[in-house]
Amino acid sequence: MKELEGLNIPAHVAIIMDGNGRWAKAKGLPRNYGHMEGAKTVENILEEASNMGIKYLTVYAFSTENWNRPQDEVKALMKLLRTYMKNCIAKSNKNNVRCRVIGDKTRLDEDLQKAIAKLEDATKTNDGMNFTIAINYGGRDEIIRSVKRIASQVKEGTLDPSQITEKILNDNLDTWELPDPDLLVRTCNELRISNFLLWQLAYTEMYFTEVAWPDFSKEELIKAIEAYNHRDRRYGGLTEGK
Ligand code: FPP
Repeated sequence: MKELEGLNIPAHVAIIMDGNGRWAKAKGLPRNYGHMEGAKTVENILEEASNMGIKYLTVYAFSTENWNRPQDEVKALMKLLRTYMKNCIAKSNKNNVRCRVIGDKTRLDEDLQKAIAKLEDATKTNDGMNFTIAINYGGRDEIIRSVKRIASQVKEGTLDPSQITEKILNDNLDTWELPDPDLLVRTCNELRISNFLLWQLAYTEMYFTEVAWPDFSKEELIKAIEAYNHRDRRYGGLTEGK
């Protein structure tokens, strides 16, 4: 892709897709219409990211806090996700995309849990891009679930507390198979992490844009990658040569 010539492409991009509601309101449309347009943007950005050579794309679709929204909005979002899971199988297999869902799936309706399992299973041998959708996901909740698994191993006597390392905690997170994100993008002018990938974002570069998620495009993604290329990634150490 000509626009990306000479740029270092981040391996893992995570996105907080914000502003569907504000986008719709500004147009005098219902919030749920904004979510529908947001779902179209997901498909477009997935394709663009794959063409750019991004290996991992992770999106925040529904947080552990989103249950507190009006019930009709929660219902509409779940319906959108259910439809997406079904349509996603054929498309992912065509494009060699492996799909995963992170978050506590046990609180989701049984049919959605089944649709997720089907999508994950149907795409598990695809070795192109890795697409991860966070549903009923909260970073704190994920860390607690990881700690509970580790505590069970300690209780069973298969693990000694002195053996608990960052790697052990990481290996018990929902994201255990994924590298940490290199770049986090949040749309629509909010400068917060909102409980997304709290552990995994420790050294991630952050990019915030005013553009609302339904308007996010290939051009906006390129701007984020350009900004990422101007950063001096340090991981707490010193940059080479300084
Ligand atoms: C934030 O906008 C967006 C969400 C809470 C939902 C994100 C869901 C989608 C983009 C669609 C479905 C996703 C997939 C993977 C098919 P907001 O409602 O908080 O917007 P606001 O801050 O302007 O109110």
